[in-house]
This record gives sequence, C-alpha cells and structure tokens, in this order.
Amino acid sequence: MSVSYRAVESLDREVRLLRDQDLPDVLEIERTGYSFPWTESVFRDCFRPDYRFWGVFVVGELAGYAVVAYMADDAHLLNICISGRNRRSGLARHLLRHLVREAATDGMVQVLLEVRVSNQAAAELYLTEGFADIGRRPGYYPSSSGREDARVLSLKVSGTGD
Ligand SMILES: CC(C)(COP(=O)(O)OP(=O)(O)OC[C@H]1O[C@@H](n2cnc3c(N)ncnc32)[C@H](O)[C@@H]1OP(=O)(O)O)[C@@H](O)C(=O)NCCC(=O)NCCS
Repeated sequence: MSVSYRAVESLDREVRLLRDQDLPDVLEIERTGYSFPWTESVFRDCFRPDYRFWGVFVVGELAGYAVVAYMADDAHLLNICISGRNRRSGLARHLLRHLVREAATDGMVQVLLEVRVSNQAAAELYLTEGFADIGRRPGYYPSSSGREDARVLSLKVSGTGD
C-alpha cells in the first residue's frame, strides 16, 4: 500500500525553472523557512543567465526552490528551501540531485555551498549526497545572538553530466 502511494507521489513531482509569476509563492515559503529571509529584490536579481532558479512542484503547487549561481566552472548553491508542510518527503534531495545533474551538464566541475553550523537538517542532506567539508567562514551569517559560522561544503560533479 505505502509503496504504490510513494510511486504515485513521485509522478506528481516536477522540477522546472521559475518565472517572475512564481515569486509570490517563493516569498511565502522563504519567509516561513528562514529567520533572516531574502527580500523580493534579491530573488528578482536571480533571473539572470548565469543563475539557475529552480522550483519543485507537487501536484502543480510550488513546494520549494533552489538558487544556483554559476561562477567560472563552480556552481554555487545560494539557497534551497522546502515549504514546512512538504518537508521530510524527499523533495530537497530530489531538487538537489536535479540541480547537480544540470550543473554537470552545463560544464560545472563542482557544486559549492555554505550552511550554518547549527543547521543539522541541511548538513545531513548534503553529506548524504556526497558533499564534503572544505572549510569554514567565521561569522558568515547573522544570528539572534550576533553572528554564526558557516561550513563550506563541496561536491565534485565533473563528468556526471555525460
Ligand atoms: C533543509 C531542508 C531544505 C530539507 O528539506 P526536506 O525536503 O525536508 O529534505 P528531504 O526530505 O529531502 O530530506 C533529505 C535528508 O535531509 C536530512 N534531513 C532533512 N530534514 C531533517 C531534519 N529535520 N532533521 C534531520 N535530518 C533532516 C535527512 O538526512 C533526510 O534524509 P532522510 O529523510 O532519508 O532521513 C528543509 O528543512 C528547509 O527548507 N529548511 C529551511 C531552509 C534551509 O535551512 N535551507 C538550507 C540552507 S543551507
């Protein structure tokens, strides 16, 4: 019973590039996902040729998004967020695999990202997808008690797009 339910669910997931019209839904998810959310103008700046602004949809409704900036041959994952009610159903993993595949196809050699040292949920996701720690940025993020360090993680993707 649960196996067939999961199979149907996965058919209803779609990842596509976002458009201007998707921004209200993005902003709603962003505001509930972070203590220090991005503003609308920051998201508007992500509709650029060297950026990939992906959305994951469940039964046609936006459930999360990811922003990737291509810099030389690095793909920098700047934001990934899933709406509260859609969490723990594999959507972030699905979206991450999609953007990694696309980055490889686009000629990128690694995916880089920063994650708050306190963000265990996100770190678990990245580490189980093969990312490795390559450094730390002291005081990179604002926090309720001042600043918080970032872990810098990387995944080599060269060749996976073949
Ligand atoms: C981090 C986040 C994107 C994960 O999204 P999600 O769709 O719930 O994640 P998935 O269901 O794909 O889970 C993938 C893996 O991440 C880890 N994970 C996700 N949520 C977790 C949690 N609350 N506690 C511990 N591990 C967690 C697990 O390893 C999980 O695998 P499993 O379900 O097989 O155990 C989501 O919690 C979120 O949007 N958080 C707010 C924004 C944020 O912190 N973004 C990351 C910035 S670096």
